Amino acid sequence: MLTEETKNIIKATIPVLEEHGTEITSAFYQHMFEAHPELLNVFNKTNQKLGRQQTALAQTVIAAAKHIDRLEAIVPNVNQIAHKHRALEIKPEHYPIVGENLIWAIQHVLGDAATPEIVEAWTETYGVIADVFIQMEAALYDEADWQGFVPFKVVAVKEESPEIKSFTVQSDAVQLKPVKAGQYITVKVHPEDETNDALRHYSICSVNTSRGLKFAVKRDVAGEERGMVSNYLHDHVKVGDEILLSAPAGEFLVDTDNKDLVFISGGVGMTPLMSMLEDEVDKRSIKFIHSAYNRDAVPFKDEITKLHNNSNVAFYFNYSESAGRLTKEKLSRIMNGNEEIYMCGSVGFMEGMLEIFSDMGIDRSRVHFEPFGPKMSITV
Ligand code: HEM
Repeated sequence: MLTEETKNIIKATIPVLEEHGTEITSAFYQHMFEAHPELLNVFNKTNQKLGRQQTALAQTVIAAAKHIDRLEAIVPNVNQIAHKHRALEIKPEHYPIVGENLIWAIQHVLGDAATPEIVEAWTETYGVIADVFIQMEAALYDEADWQGFVPFKVVAVKEESPEIKSFTVQSDAVQLKPVKAGQYITVKVHPEDETNDALRHYSICSVNTSRGLKFAVKRDVAGEERGMVSNYLHDHVKVGDEILLSAPAGEFLVDTDNKDLVFISGGVGMTPLMSMLEDEVDKRSIKFIHSAYNRDAVPFKDEITKLHNNSNVAFYFNYSESAGRLTKEKLSRIMNGNEEIYMCGSVGFMEGMLEIFSDMGIDRSRVHFEPFGPKMSITV
């Protein structure tokens, strides 16, 4: 239990943390990786370089500080992060390492302003926040379909579009259960020319695992930070190869009584929505809005074609090459505003959609989303 005095110190330091949050977390990561280079095997180097992870951690710590009187308010955020931590095999023994380095970074960036009382208050508060994560993750480890990273054999590779491949994998070591629609798996690979392991989450395409677990990977070629793992999977992994997978994770699930659903995806964001569609199409009316560069770029054409005559689902495709982006006007023509919305795509795509929904007066509680990239780095 934190004392009132500690809570007051935490509240008083929020403005300074907001001002220096990302600076503190950047210093924290650098310092932590110098002392613990083995952690480079779990952190995503691309996210580090792009600063996304720094923003996400800073946002989370600030959110926790703001809700220090009522930490249960941040549980939905913690739940989403805890799923990722469990999928990455983050364990209780890692928390003191993060704690020590975070406190060091606060002292380093704030200098003399970080009085012993402030340092003490943050050390205690970190412990409380860490316990919330550790407890939630313990429950997720208990309910996981298998523990740790297990070898799977690739039994099928399919080009879903010029940029997207799906991989179907099976393992003798685990008895596959049906997957919850919307979940992802986590792949661990070690490309030959890399010093460290690389871990990535990829959405599962189908809830049906009778022929294996199928997940989709978009080859990430944009900019300097071209995706190391997606390119490795596209170029090197073929039928018969083995890859390591941890158990399905994620809380981006359809959880509503609303009979009308709208699915909105950008690019490979279609993947988790396809497993949701498979699960929901017999139960509800679904408008599926997909934004792609052009028709060629649309994945899962076989599955979409099979649903052609299903009156429960209507597909709307927006091709940005010819029609530009999705806008409020376009969405207003399709949606009635009373549906429950599930969407998935890049952080930028999500931010654009959230702005449009806010313009349309749609209550945020009806918008469920999962970006590719840390959710807490979204600032809309
Ligand atoms: C991801 C917060 C402890 C390792 C994340 C994310 C947040 C976060 C916000 C991004 C989730 C997303 O993708 O949406 C925290 C907080 C912690 C904590 C507040 C302490 C209370 C730890 C510990 C470790 C760890 C102890 C292990 C040393 C990771 C890794 C990722 C991650 C590897 C994936 C990020 C990436 O590489 O892109 N965490 N975390 N975290 N966390 Fe933590």
